[in-house]
Amino acid sequence: MRKKMPNSQKTSQKLLAWYQEYGRDLPWRVKGGAHPNPYVILVSEFMLQQTTVKTVIPYFKRFMERFPTIETLAKATEEEVYAMWQGLGYYTRARSLHTTAQIIVNEYAGKFPQNKAEVMKLKGIGAYTVASFLALAYNQPETVIDGNVMRIICRLYHITRPLDEVKEVIQEKAEQLTDKEYAADYASAIMDLGAMICTPKKPQCLICPLQEECQSKDKKDLEQIPIRRKMSKKEKEGSVYLIQNDQGNYLLRKRTEPGLLTRLYEFPWQDEGKIWEEAEDTGKAVTHIFTHIKLTLRIYKIKSNKPLIANSFFVSKEALTEYPLSTLMKKVINKA
Ligand code: ADE
Repeated sequence: MRKKMPNSQKTSQKLLAWYQEYGRDLPWRVKGGAHPNPYVILVSEFMLQQTTVKTVIPYFKRFMERFPTIETLAKATEEEVYAMWQGLGYYTRARSLHTTAQIIVNEYAGKFPQNKAEVMKLKGIGAYTVASFLALAYNQPETVIDGNVMRIICRLYHITRPLDEVKEVIQEKAEQLTDKEYAADYASAIMDLGAMICTPKKPQCLICPLQEECQSKDKKDLEQIPIRRKMSKKEKEGSVYLIQNDQGNYLLRKRTEPGLLTRLYEFPWQDEGKIWEEAEDTGKAVTHIFTHIKLTLRIYKIKSNKPLIANSFFVSKEALTEYPLSTLMKKVINKA
């Protein structure tokens, strides 16, 4: 017998009932409505962009101890904020969060804006974070759509065309499914369903609250949904330099060029060819995947007592990790 198509109202109620009983207790979460402190939601949503819940938890706790209010964060220096972010990666987020805190304190007298257009104007906040922030902090009926939600919607309605062709259909179905009254709990619930039940591999259909209406349960292609087109990554090969002086200290530079890595500290490197012909090849290399590029850097050594490039200085081996380094540079240290 063909299954009934999901009825959005009932589906969201089932999801909410499941969440009340089984939803995760997380340090930035309250169940049963909006979080009373929007700052908690702001910090956690910034951290959860591109990073898993498990990794974020200890960072979130330390960050909130160090910067318990938006005012303390706004007043901190960039280096202090970076220090608390060290290890989480994607440091642009730390800078954007810091700037956003300063905007809210300086331009909104510390009171969080509550409408979409205003929130969008803050720094580092895209469609996803606006929706999750307004839903979780103010119970506004915004629809949160991330990879988890897309997977759930595609499976629920057995949508098997590639994701990039069905974004609008997903948006529409996700909006219908969003509970307008309990938007905060609903946003948390759908995230938990994606993380705990409707996982990419081996989804737990037998204990899924939506198993009756799911159009993909028991279908062979379940685990393949959603369908993604493979994107070929451009490959680049460059070089990175461990420049040591007679004291054994390493040359580090602060990156000032705009872009993903700006203001992080790094060993001199470039994404193609070699900078210094005389550098000694260590035979080692690191590989890092950026959004569209697979970058391999060969590691070279140089002896020099002079800082060979602008914005650079020598640092002892032990002090290296006190500077905010990109993941790429941490890989270089581990490898070397
Ligand atoms: N991913 C993004 N925001 C989240 C949240 N508030 N809880 C769990 N996972 C998330």
